[in-house]
Amino acid sequence: MLKQETIKIIKATVPVLEVHGVEITKTFYKNMFQAHPELLNIFNHTNQEQGRQQTALANTVYAAAVHIENLEAILPAVMLIAHKHRSLGILPEHYPIVGEHLLKAIKEVLGDAATDDIINAWAEAYGVIADIFVQVEEELYQKAENNGGWRLFKPLKVAKKVVESDLVTSVYFVNEDGSPLPTYEPGQYISIRVKVPGEEYLMNRQYTLSQASAEDGYRISVKRESDHTPNGKVSNFIHDNLQVGDLVDVSAPAGLFVLEETAAPITFVSGGIGVTPLNSMLQSLKEDATNKVNFIQCARNEKVVAFSDDIKEKVNALPNASYTALYSDEDKLITKELLAEKVADNADVYVCGPVGFMEAVIKNLQEIGVKDEKIHYEFFGPAMQLAK
Ligand code: HEM
Repeated sequence: MLKQETIKIIKATVPVLEVHGVEITKTFYKNMFQAHPELLNIFNHTNQEQGRQQTALANTVYAAAVHIENLEAILPAVMLIAHKHRSLGILPEHYPIVGEHLLKAIKEVLGDAATDDIINAWAEAYGVIADIFVQVEEELYQKAENNGGWRLFKPLKVAKKVVESDLVTSVYFVNEDGSPLPTYEPGQYISIRVKVPGEEYLMNRQYTLSQASAEDGYRISVKRESDHTPNGKVSNFIHDNLQVGDLVDVSAPAGLFVLEETAAPITFVSGGIGVTPLNSMLQSLKEDATNKVNFIQCARNEKVVAFSDDIKEKVNALPNASYTALYSDEDKLITKELLAEKVADNADVYVCGPVGFMEAVIKNLQEIGVKDEKIHYEFFGPAMQLAK
């Protein structure tokens, strides 16, 4: 446990962190990558360039400071991050490197205001937070291994590529020796690590497994991005360069945005490529599932929509399910009125799509009275907000 004096100092520095948090973490990343360029093989450079990761780390450090007397309160957020870390192969030996550079950055940005007492207090607090991460992540590594998986990355073979729409292509990964891959929970993701031509470092990305656990391998479904956005480097590499027979480093499935067992009605609301985890969840429902199920799929138009036929087929096979497609090119948008009509009382609602879409849908759901604990969602990219 932290000493009372340490807690006092941490709490007193929260307002300073609020003001300088992003600057501190930016400085931290710059210095850390200078000293340890090999870590660029782990971090997402695009998130770095866009400052997204800086915000995520700043938020976490801030939240840890706010909850320093009761770290239990941030455990759900810790679990989410730990799943991401585990899927990227983050190891205990990485933590002292991050700790050293975080403290140096605090000193650099705050200057004389960062007294020895403040630095020591943060060193102690970082140690406590890092120990929690290391312990939780070790448990996750063991869980993956015990589920027939593996610890870090394993080369899997590209068995096939299937074009799903004008924008989306699926890739199926299998074990090289043909043995079955471990099962996973619908909604989970894998990390893949690839060498993109022209890039100095390896690139890692998370992709949701887009079908229910199946014998034909792990399927990811990747949206082509504009060549002009740095977001698309790995996705477009998968579209353009990845060939059947290639080996790709893949981590065991991870993630907490999964379908929870329930007898309650279920509504799925997807926007664009956010359909991938929700389709996996829908497909994993047993065909005698009596839940009332609604699938609302939003997309630009019929040419780019993915999996609508699979979804319709599954909905028809279920005893009590319906499907609604909304194409924005036809001016059909998701509205509060439509949600009020489709979302049954006490339903669990699963939402996935672009950030703006999700924010609007979640706000509408709250306004029609859906309780927070019944709204399940996952933002793509680093969690922008730590605590819900
Ligand atoms: C992602 C916090 C230690 C590497 C994240 C995220 C947070 C976070 C909030 C975003 C999660 C999301 O994407 O939803 C922390 C905290 C740490 C810590 C509080 C220390 C106590 C480390 C260490 C490493 C690391 C030691 C490895 C050197 C990464 C990477 C990502 C990530 C690679 C994925 C995002 C990206 O690639 O840019 N971490 N982290 N983290 N973290 Fe950590």
